[in-house]
Amino acid sequence: MTHDPVTLDVATAQSRRRAAHDAPFLAAARGDTPSRRPVWMMRQAGRSLPEYREIRAHVGMLDACFTPDLLSEITLQPVRRHDADAAILFSDIVVPLKAAGIDLDIVPGRGPVVAQPIRTREAARNLPVVHTEQLQPVVEGIAGVLEGLREDQVLIGFAGAPFTLASYLVEGGPSKNHEVTKGLMYSQPEVWHELMRALTPSIIRFLAVQAEAGVDALQLFDSWAGYLSARDYREYVAPYSRQIFAALEPYGIPRIHFGVGTGELLGDMAVVGPDVVGVDWRVPLDSAAERISSALATEDPQGSPEQRLRTLQGNLDPAVLFAGPEVVREQVQRVCGEADRAMARGLARGHIFNLGHGVLPTTDPDAITRAFEEVHQQ
Ligand code: CP3
Repeated sequence: MTHDPVTLDVATAQSRRRAAHDAPFLAAARGDTPSRRPVWMMRQAGRSLPEYREIRAHVGMLDACFTPDLLSEITLQPVRRHDADAAILFSDIVVPLKAAGIDLDIVPGRGPVVAQPIRTREAARNLPVVHTEQLQPVVEGIAGVLEGLREDQVLIGFAGAPFTLASYLVEGGPSKNHEVTKGLMYSQPEVWHELMRALTPSIIRFLAVQAEAGVDALQLFDSWAGYLSARDYREYVAPYSRQIFAALEPYGIPRIHFGVGTGELLGDMAVVGPDVVGVDWRVPLDSAAERISSALATEDPQGSPEQRLRTLQGNLDPAVLFAGPEVVREQVQRVCGEADRAMARGLARGHIFNLGHGVLPTTDPDAITRAFEEVHQQ
């Protein structure tokens, strides 16, 4: 199957976007000085919050993702509670696949499970591409979120990147070592590339739909890319992620890229096109900035020094939130200090505070609130 290119409606996206120009998140993403250090946390909407668990006691995860009122309410819960500078849309990386008609579910305590794993060329070729109309509940949910945000708070839309989505589709569910996925990638590269070509337009469309519904920024989660060597990342993944970032450029909103355990891939993930690079908790932000700026210099030797600067996002270890207020304060200060050092050395242009991966379900919500307060004092 050949896939039609995804057409963008940039004018609609611009007309839906609120005038949040001075929002700290946007200033930091552009490299301007924000009025306070912006902070949000991956997985801030979800199981750490009793008000979320109350809603979810009556409704399944994917049902919640396709119910606009619930989607808006759950997205706004952590923003209200923690005074976050950004909301992350309550959804899941498998939502566009589910919307396109693929038989899958999110099993509590396990994650996404796919009824019929995709392991052949035919199956890859026949993978349906999501249509805009199938994502209508997400569009309506986004409108509800935008009504509930202050002018200085932004909404981040997101999608799973091709490797991470492919891993769920090929394995049939969550995997520790991603061996079936990598086995297929190495032994049948033509099937792999067929699958990547089939997934890329759905990812672009899911992100484009969110941009056209008015989100202020987009994050591409390649959560499991850290399982790849840099060489394999370049060959099997980077071309598709690059295509996705390039397709979104016309919207002119910040594009964020993040993966877990990607210290060795930071440069490669930076050169595929994001404005903001999410860093997991294993690499100090100043080292991350060195890796990112040197990869950008190698990629574009003619480019100006400013063109080599990206905004850093991260990277407190989520487990630090279990260590008590004193440790949280110290570690927040350390992370901010490392980001400030990177900026002072001309290796980065801004800092958006985040965790180095998502909020863990048993985190005390008050510890999260205190961490947000501490960041705002930095
Ligand atoms: O606050 C937020 O970050 C917004 C919502 C969000 C969810 N999933 C909600 C969710 C986001 C951004 C995601 C992305 C996502 N989903 C990723 C990329 C980010 C990452 O963590 O690396 C991945 C790999 C998935 C796939 C997925 N969905 C997993 C691994 C799980 C956890 C399974 C479990 O129960 O342990 C899910 C389910 C999921 N997605 C939950 C939430 C709140 C838990 C569902 C529940 O409450 O029962």
